[in-house]
Amino acid sequence: MIRFLRHAFLCLALLSTTVFVPSPAAADAIRGGLLWDQWWVVNGAPVPTGDHPLYPPAGSKSGNATFRCKECHGWDYKGAAGAYGSGSHFTGIAGVFGTTLTAGQMTDLIKTVAVANGHGFQNYGLTDTDIADLVEFIQTGVIDTDFYIDGSKAFFGDASQGETNYSAVSAPACTLCHGAEGTAINFKVPADPEWVGTLGAGNPWELLHKIRFGQPGTGMPSWIGDGGSDQGAADMGAYVQQNLPAFSLCTDTPRAACAQSAKATVLIKKPVDPSKAKLKFKWVKGAEVQHADFGDPGVTTNYSLCLYDSNVSIDSLAAAIDVRPNPAWLSQSPKGWKYKDKLGAYAGLRKALLKPGTTGKSKATFIAKGVNLALPVAVGAGTFFGQDPDVTVQLVNESEQCWTATFATAKKNEAEIFKAKQP
Ligand code: HEC
Ligand code: HEC
Repeated sequence: MIRFLRHAFLCLALLSTTVFVPSPAAADAIRGGLLWDQWWVVNGAPVPTGDHPLYPPAGSKSGNATFRCKECHGWDYKGAAGAYGSGSHFTGIAGVFGTTLTAGQMTDLIKTVAVANGHGFQNYGLTDTDIADLVEFIQTGVIDTDFYIDGSKAFFGDASQGETNYSAVSAPACTLCHGAEGTAINFKVPADPEWVGTLGAGNPWELLHKIRFGQPGTGMPSWIGDGGSDQGAADMGAYVQQNLPAFSLCTDTPRAACAQSAKATVLIKKPVDPSKAKLKFKWVKGAEVQHADFGDPGVTTNYSLCLYDSNVSIDSLAAAIDVRPNPAWLSQSPKGWKYKDKLGAYAGLRKALLKPGTTGKSKATFIAKGVNLALPVAVGAGTFFGQDPDVTVQLVNESEQCWTATFATAKKNEAEIFKAKQP
């Protein structure tokens, strides 16, 4: 649109007898935000080599990373006063948030080495347009991230609005590329996945920046560039943190050495209305389990319920329901843990019980419901699981403890319901 208007304006100017002096193209804060992330991917300049001269020798990064604005000044734009105040990104360098420099002073500082702390980026491949976009970004795109993210890295936001923003409003929606669970693109390697949720848990400032501006060199849109608000971006952050898996403990195929039980049941209901989705898994009369095997799910131990379906005797992961450590876990020490959350904020989990015991006495239950519960897609019009020949359900935790049940028959295996017990 802007390009079209500019074009129309130039045509008018040519037709007119008056001589217009066209004003320079307005600087682009969105592009500036992308340059802030990794400028050479945006402007196609050669990848910088060596270390940037302003990068402190004591810092732990080297090479092109030291040329990224974000590396010295942070995703929260606060440098050493923010999230990069410690850890592997620490440089001690100040941020740009709240800078009192004028646009002209900033331009000189970024471009040349002629002023104090001059960055000299003209020598590495930043053009005047790039620098104007960066200055525009600093002046109009930099926000106080403390307004959206609290001291424990949690977003202030409305997760249900965030879900709408994540899956429907933005064009194209996040789901289109990242999937409903945020796991369709893995930013790292399969053995150590990094998904949207991983970033949400580990680096909410980076997530906020990427939602607002997009990802350099990809078709990922800018939320604010498309007219979204900063609060709308933070709402998405809240949704990502509360609902999308940060990592999965579920492996591609079932774990081999898990505790067995004499009895187990599973019920899955997946009607068209997602608020009515339900999963109930009970593992009773189990093998010997100690209280300590459960770890500390309230604070440090992640749990996942992994559903595997087999097809011609080959198991594959049908769904992973990942529950981050959270305060809905109540310690019954030394008698295990109980979980109670009426809202099912974490992957839909409402109730759970982890009970230690000697052989035949241990127990584990997992009951999840509602829109936050991500159940597998039915394999066919009238069948939920292939179950060829079985379905395996495993509850696993981060301490590599697991509780397994294999269901070779089903009481119901239909489009919207799967119900089985063993023996
Ligand atoms: C290698 C580290 C490094 C990188 C990369 C870097 N800067 Fe800086 N920047 C500094 C240092 C050092 C200062 C001086 C701040 C201080 O006193 O700690 C500074 C200061 C600034 C300031 C002035 C802030 C103020 O209020 O005084 C701006 C603006 C700025 N940088 C923008 C950028 C931009 C834009 C980029 C990316 C194109 C960038 N910087 C990349 C190290 C870096
Ligand atoms: C048109 C496809 C597309 C859409 C739509 C999209 N993304 Fe992306 N996104 C990508 C691609 C491609 C990458 C880069 C992946 C890589 O580096 O492997 C990416 C990267 C990311 C990253 C950064 C990963 C990292 O650690 O570097 C995050 C976070 C992210 N997207 C979140 C979102 C969110 C949230 C939305 C919705 C507001 C969204 N994306 C919309 C394609 C898209």
